[in-house]
Amino acid sequence: MTTYRIAPSILSADCARLGEEVSAVIAAGADLIHFDVMDNHYVPNLTFGPMVCAAVKPYASVPVDVHLMVEPVDDLIQAFAKAGADIITFHPEASRHVDRSLSLIKDAGCQAGLVLNPATSVSVLENVLDRLDMVLLMSVNPGFGGQSFIAHTLEKIRCVRALLDEYEAKSGRRIALEVDGGIKTDNIAAVAAAGADTFVAGSAIFNQPDYKAVIDAMRRELAKV
Ligand code: DX5
Ligand code: ZN
Repeated sequence: MTTYRIAPSILSADCARLGEEVSAVIAAGADLIHFDVMDNHYVPNLTFGPMVCAAVKPYASVPVDVHLMVEPVDDLIQAFAKAGADIITFHPEASRHVDRSLSLIKDAGCQAGLVLNPATSVSVLENVLDRLDMVLLMSVNPGFGGQSFIAHTLEKIRCVRALLDEYEAKSGRRIALEVDGGIKTDNIAAVAAAGADTFVAGSAIFNQPDYKAVIDAMRRELAKV
């Protein structure tokens, strides 16, 4: 049985009350806190740095899942590991030496993952599977919350699921498969059926007054898969 995890993205939270928002969404059933780091260089938006991560860390009784949309990545990997990140993912296009960046994450004691944009080929995973704890597939182009899910991602999820299952059969090691962008109550079951086990949701949760109602509804959908 797959264990499904819901990872609310605090990009859509009330940034004036981030600590409270993190506590509230965990009380509502969040399994991870997804922390979107944008640098106005790799993506056309600017969000949170390590200082903010360290500030919300005391409120996070679940793992902090740091999604780096920055270029270059290596210095920020170290800074976010110090700031309390539990999982750090980055985009391979933003690192000159992907294997080295993954090693930096592991050496800092965090779980490591690669993020694939909608147009990024799955082949970037092939030579680094041993270093990965997570693959994050973008179902929107990175940079903003509230965009629509790109339907073609479902096919890509199936393809990566097959690759990760084959790897698990050989190595005995399971790599998580997370999907990020445009996930709502009405499409989460399809994303899970395609093979994802971890679901980022920003606007779907934080734009509603009752976070628990949304997370419970998502879990009811996942129970049908
Ligand atoms: C986009 C971010 C996402 C985003 C998801 O670049 O990586 O995590 O916050 O937001 P929604 O769920 O609103 O699409
Ligand atoms: Zn993200």
